Amino acid sequence: MMSPFTVAIDGPAAAGKGTISKAVAAHFDLAHLDTGLLYRAVGARMLQGEDPIAAAESLMAADLENPDLRTAAVAQSASKVAVIPEVRAALLDFQRAFARRSGGAVLDGRDIGTVICPQAEVKLFVTASPVVRAQRRFAELEERGFDTDFDTVLADVKSRDDRDMTRADAPLRPAEDAVTIDTSELSIGEAVAQAIAAVTARCD
Ligand code: C5P
Repeated sequence: MMSPFTVAIDGPAAAGKGTISKAVAAHFDLAHLDTGLLYRAVGARMLQGEDPIAAAESLMAADLENPDLRTAAVAQSASKVAVIPEVRAALLDFQRAFARRSGGAVLDGRDIGTVICPQAEVKLFVTASPVVRAQRRFAELEERGFDTDFDTVLADVKSRDDRDMTRADAPLRPAEDAVTIDTSELSIGEAVAQAIAAVTARCD
């Protein structure tokens, strides 16, 4: 029986982090935090005219229930507020406290293994090619009834990657000791199996 541990899962948009994180959390009976939701909630409040730093400093649980958080507009806004160091600082303590939960935790985002929880027992970097990620995001948006086209989704994915990877504060990059999983050619089942195997190998 493994003692409680923290799993940090980072990677670019639509690489499969969310699906993998939920599956890893369920498999090992760990709590899960999708940290992107925090930035999306701040981004949504900025779109409503609020100052992003003030929004981050006063973020409440109810903000995470906003049904618009998954829209493309909020995703772009999230990646814009995410470059502001004061926004990141305001969200730090909550994420670190979550990572230290006594029963163990899985956190997914962009800077979990590098900044939020560099001491995590397991770090995964989940990635896929931009075209594959845009195809997945496009299919997901179509299924949810959003009116969009593939080229717009691909441009969105690329501009978000660029902003996330080039920002000065906590840019998206794999931690030195992260295990990289490229899901471009993997089914969901295969990707989840690789992630569970990587966690098991690190925690044995
Ligand atoms: O993961 P998700 O696509 O929901 O994240 C939305 C945006 O929030 C990302 O594009 C990124 O700019 C920001 N983010 C971040 N750090 C995290 C999680 C998300 O900067 N840990």
